[in-house]
Amino acid sequence: MIIEPKMRGFICFTSHPKGCEQNVLNQINYVKSKGAINGAKKVLVIGCSTGFGLASRITSAFGSNAATLGICFEKPGVEGKPGTAGWYNTAAFEKFAEEEGLYAKTINGDAFSNEVKAEAIEAIKENLGEVDLVIYSLAAPRRTNPVDGKTYRSVLKPIDGEYTNKTVDFHSGKVSDVSIQPVQDEEEISNTVQVMGGGDWKLWMEALGEAGVLADGVKTVAYSYIGPEITFPIYRNGTIGKAKDHLEATAHELTENMASIHGEAYVSVNKALVTQASSAIPVIPLYISLLFKVMKEEGVHEGCIEQIQRLYSDRLYAGSDIPVDEKGRIRVDDWEMREDIQEKVSKLWDIADSNNLSEIGDLEGYKHEFMSLFGFDIEGVDYSAEVDETTSVKSIQ
Ligand code: NAI
Repeated sequence: MIIEPKMRGFICFTSHPKGCEQNVLNQINYVKSKGAINGAKKVLVIGCSTGFGLASRITSAFGSNAATLGICFEKPGVEGKPGTAGWYNTAAFEKFAEEEGLYAKTINGDAFSNEVKAEAIEAIKENLGEVDLVIYSLAAPRRTNPVDGKTYRSVLKPIDGEYTNKTVDFHSGKVSDVSIQPVQDEEEISNTVQVMGGGDWKLWMEALGEAGVLADGVKTVAYSYIGPEITFPIYRNGTIGKAKDHLEATAHELTENMASIHGEAYVSVNKALVTQASSAIPVIPLYISLLFKVMKEEGVHEGCIEQIQRLYSDRLYAGSDIPVDEKGRIRVDDWEMREDIQEKVSKLWDIADSNNLSEIGDLEGYKHEFMSLFGFDIEGVDYSAEVDETTSVKSIQ
């Protein structure tokens, strides 16, 4: 079929297999252009199909020749109805990995469940023996916790009272005020921690450890965000921030628990980027469009793949002690948080409105990034051509 973008708000109902394939190929080429990384050789990526997780899988495979087992939750296309971008990304990843003789297997299912954890352990035992890196990169709106059987939903809300600030509808460029009501009760906070905190990461690491499939010296990394003060009420001091606090505390706990196998758990604080998860948070898209403009002007702009390639080559596998901040976190948001960058963004924030945003912000860049998440607006792709919407992922029967 011929596939066109069908967007509403921060949702796109279609995605393009060829565009997604080209996206994956561009990321592979970037990683290769940066040279080999002396990194892990057997890698489990939980949340492997889009955003930072996909970039991690690509960096492991094409930077370090690693065998990768990926976990994701995506929908295949059926005749007349395209699948999700993550499905097509995974199909493309496996295709290119196979061409280079790299082991790549994907499990498509609920990573929060016991069943998927058991399936992953089985696959590791059968094909890899053990893993020496576990990337935890899930972004999900809900989680059924297998321990109590309850389903928890996360909310993106401030905690200390109503929060009003500017936001942008990135399709129209309209800047307006948005007011977000605070949490109604403590439960909304604890529910968000259940979904986006470190609880499931811990269950994964315990299950892998008990099954004996963690290599001596294994590393595990989960991703977090801090950002500037203007977004604190909705992000770092909001419900999601509480979940990130929990995730960061879990890293210390995991390192202690893995002492006998010399394992290390880290949280890497990454840069704000356009992904399916971040587009859904009010205020953030306006901040990102101003940030991109400034970082591009300063020549320090990065996307997911540049961030993760740098995380691996300059932090995790640089051959020396891994540099961390006072809370033990790896920081690859260092360029975003540079004082001069933040000062410029903050000045632009004060004056940004619907009339000047296309000039002072990188609205076009934001739109392009958003479209390309779904395989649209990618150079070299013929969008008028018929494509196979039922493209399969080789390792998933
Ligand atoms: P994303 O939405 O692009 O990717 C999420 C991944 O999780 C996908 O592979 C999806 O298939 C998988 N997934 C979701 N629910 C699942 C389930 N139940 N079972 C199995 N797989 C499931 O998200 P993004 O933005 O890459 O986020 C990943 C992590 O990075 C999150 O922890 C996020 O908070 C963090 N982060 C994001 C930043 C941003 O600006 N986007 C900045 C810094 C950190």
